[in-house]
Amino acid sequence: MPQSAGIRLLQVARPYWGLFVAGLAATLIASVLDGVTIVVLIPLLKILFGTAGSLAQSGTRLEAVMDRILAPLLSGASPSVAGTRLVAVLMAGLVLKNAFTYGSNQLSVAVQEGLVRDLRVKLYRHLLTIELGFFQRTRQGQLISAVIADADQCKQAVTAALAAFFQNVVLILVSLVILSFTSVRLTLITVAAAPILVLGIRQLLRRLRRYAGEWAEERGRLTSTVTERLAAIKLIRGYGAEAVEGDAFADQADRYRKRLIRTQRFSSLTSPVSEVFGGLVIILIIWAAANPDVIGARLRPEATIGFLAVALKMMAPIKSLAQFPTSMAMALASAERVFSWLDRESAEQDEPGARPARFERDLVFDQVRFSYGGEDVLTDVSFPIKKGQIVAIVGPSGAGKSTLLELVPRFHDPTGGAIRLDGVPLSGLTRASLRQTIGLVSQETVVLNDTVHANIAYGRPEASAALVREAAGAANALEFIDKLPDGFDTLLGERGTRLSGGQRQRIAIARALLRDPPLLILDEATSALDTESERLVQEAIDRLMKDRTVLVVAHRLATVQHADEIVVLDSGRIVEQGPHAALLARGGLYRRLYDLQFRTVEDMA
Ligand SMILES: Nc1ncnc2c1ncn2[C@@H]1O[C@H](COP(=O)(O)OP(=O)(O)OP(=O)(O)O)[C@@H](O)[C@H]1O
Ligand SMILES: [Mg+2]
Repeated sequence: MPQSAGIRLLQVARPYWGLFVAGLAATLIASVLDGVTIVVLIPLLKILFGTAGSLAQSGTRLEAVMDRILAPLLSGASPSVAGTRLVAVLMAGLVLKNAFTYGSNQLSVAVQEGLVRDLRVKLYRHLLTIELGFFQRTRQGQLISAVIADADQCKQAVTAALAAFFQNVVLILVSLVILSFTSVRLTLITVAAAPILVLGIRQLLRRLRRYAGEWAEERGRLTSTVTERLAAIKLIRGYGAEAVEGDAFADQADRYRKRLIRTQRFSSLTSPVSEVFGGLVIILIIWAAANPDVIGARLRPEATIGFLAVALKMMAPIKSLAQFPTSMAMALASAERVFSWLDRESAEQDEPGARPARFERDLVFDQVRFSYGGEDVLTDVSFPIKKGQIVAIVGPSGAGKSTLLELVPRFHDPTGGAIRLDGVPLSGLTRASLRQTIGLVSQETVVLNDTVHANIAYGRPEASAALVREAAGAANALEFIDKLPDGFDTLLGERGTRLSGGQRQRIAIARALLRDPPLLILDEATSALDTESERLVQEAIDRLMKDRTVLVVAHRLATVQHADEIVVLDSGRIVEQGPHAALLARGGLYRRLYDLQFRTVEDMA
């Protein structure tokens, strides 16, 4: 919907309306001054042609008006003095006009960049709140492209609206007024030619909009490829796929080129059209001015030159005005994309009447069912975690363990049943307070491109250096942090590549320790560690779980043995439940897993 994208853009631009109006005023003044400088040319030309002082035989109304205005300046002065004065006026007008033009450009830039920043921040903030499934369905490059490129393109709407549209309309109006003072008939002839220009452009616009949209889509794909493939650089190198990837990218770049050229072909069509039109009009004016039959009376040379000068000056604004719908269409295509992302519902709104989370008694899974959209990943999962308990979840890969954990901070909501914290369904709690109650250490340890300190203090930015150090110590992370070049101030590389798997896990554990949540949710990383790392990480996990309420997905024997209760999950269902010894004695899935996986670890140790 073109209209609504434009209107919504205006709403986003509301803080800049003042600046916008100031810009318009500056433009208006500049345009008037522009007209004035040209008009002053006429008396100057009269002096040069030696026809000055002949007020009585003044040919045009414009000259009459000008003579009256300029009379104090010129009366009684010799032609050379009058000429000097006129030149001074001309110079002053020129300087002032350009000062105002400069001012209006600056204001226009301020409005544009303010709008782009606001739109960008709004979009980014919104993206942070969209339900998580969205990020699995949407390629990152499309989002990057929207935040960076599409938001930026929206400013064309301001440029188009302020610079191109209003400025040009004002310039044209001022020019027309001056022209009609010179010769009404000639002006009418000039204006009559205008509709020719508008013809044909309208049909182009709808297509242009579609093409611009497809071009932006392709740009998103290009961005996606670069970010995704560069992130997988080791895979590409390892499999010798550089040439294949390069070729695939070349194809994509070529598709982008074609889309862009197709869009450009349409958007630049207006320029040659208006150029030809402009030339025709000038020829028409010269022909008409020389023809007394057409304009009623022959214009004198200085009036003709003045008229032509104004008419010529008018061509540039007419030309850009002709391009106005084009640039507007491109900007609106971008705005539509931005707004289409903004229209994705935020998943982070609290339900009406939601209250702050409290955790005094228990967290209960009650007949919880969940699906990502297809088959159920969890079915009829029911078990409690009492405050102070450690409950471990074990099961084969793909059983639904991580999914189960992610329901607690409400990354997803159950499709059936409920999870209750102290008897209150999670949906009845505010998300912020719920997440404040929970500390999550996920299976994939995330290390941000920031300092060690910032990474550990992520959930508690105000934490002192001493506290952060203490947490790192408890997480067994000090031994390697102290060896880093800048200790806690060391920047961890892109995606934490400068740390080993075990070191990353310990950073994540330190982060959770520092946050010290009432309820800890721990998804043990499955990455294989050597015995020494294994011991360091296990010690850290033990300290993390000590004296806390913990729901832990356990892949390690040592972790399981600390549990008060073990829930065995298989294909989304609870198949066994109980303490370690009882489950072992039962000889079911737990026993098999234990023998297969845990036993070998124990034997090795
Ligand atoms: N975002 C998702 N969208 C669709 N299906 C998913 C998604 N995440 C997981 N699944 C599916 O849900 C099932 C359970 O996955 P989950 O990650 O919970 O397993 P898991 O028990 O944690 O396995 P592992 O021990 O390997 O970590 C799997 O069949 C998986 O393919
Ligand atoms: Mg998992």
